[in-house]
Amino acid sequence: MVKSEKGFLSGLILNIALLVATSNALAWGENGHQIVGEIAWVYLQPEVKTEVEQLLRVAGEPGLAEASTWADRIRREEQYKWTAPLHYINLPHDWSGYIETRDCPPAGCIVKALEKYEEVLSSPDATQSERAQALMFVAHFVGDLHQPMHTGLREDRGGNDIEVHFFGFPTNLHALWDVYLPAGFAADWRNYAQQQQKEISEAQRLAWQNSNKYEWTAESQHLAHNNAYTDDPNLGEDYYRRNREVVEQRLRQGGVRLAGLLNQAISPQLPRSNP
Ligand code: ADE
Ligand code: ZN
Ligand code: ZN
Repeated sequence: MVKSEKGFLSGLILNIALLVATSNALAWGENGHQIVGEIAWVYLQPEVKTEVEQLLRVAGEPGLAEASTWADRIRREEQYKWTAPLHYINLPHDWSGYIETRDCPPAGCIVKALEKYEEVLSSPDATQSERAQALMFVAHFVGDLHQPMHTGLREDRGGNDIEVHFFGFPTNLHALWDVYLPAGFAADWRNYAQQQQKEISEAQRLAWQNSNKYEWTAESQHLAHNNAYTDDPNLGEDYYRRNREVVEQRLRQGGVRLAGLLNQAISPQLPRSNP
């Protein structure tokens, strides 16, 4: 192992210890969502940026990165309990493409929620407050949909019921992908996001934006079964090495695609009947 890798791993382990100590365990961690939001911001068209800034003022959020964690901050409040099933979709191992009537339960799922809030965001009839909330849902759900375990199996609640140890720390497979795998590089999320954004080539941006939410779902479902699910309850360096790149790529893709979605959904030229 080269020395910088060693430093990197000890940094990861220190971050895990800190996370465990403070039990700071939100979905995709807060950091994952902030990174996706921060990357997306760079790719917004100028007039879309202006519109997003207005909506963020309505929402009382300082930036897109911060606003993208709102859906996790409110999901346990009584009035927002109904939003909990909107953060994920449970798909079987042998799944081969999204069919709403089969795959999305009556309480809702992330794919249908994204469709709905995208529509609110682009509707000329929605109020600014409805659109501000839709923006925060969309920014969050694009991030969640890129986390493979958010398309995991129903029987283990997307890995929440699979107990594992990561470098000796007790956690579960879902939280591992939400929080602990990104912990190694997301300590300073703004810095990290800006550095990651510079790594994205124009060809990648085009290819990634030229895909839809059904394809993002399929990618996550494949990654869940090819990379995330494992029978080994004791995970550490090998698992981290195999999946670190995957996590980083999902964060970059999430950012680029969130921007593409917002650029499409927010057309400031449209006359609004409900300012
Ligand atoms: N979070 C809570 N329940 C979940 C489930 N069944 N699948 C994925 N993520 C979840
Ligand atoms: Zn999660
Ligand atoms: Zn979430």
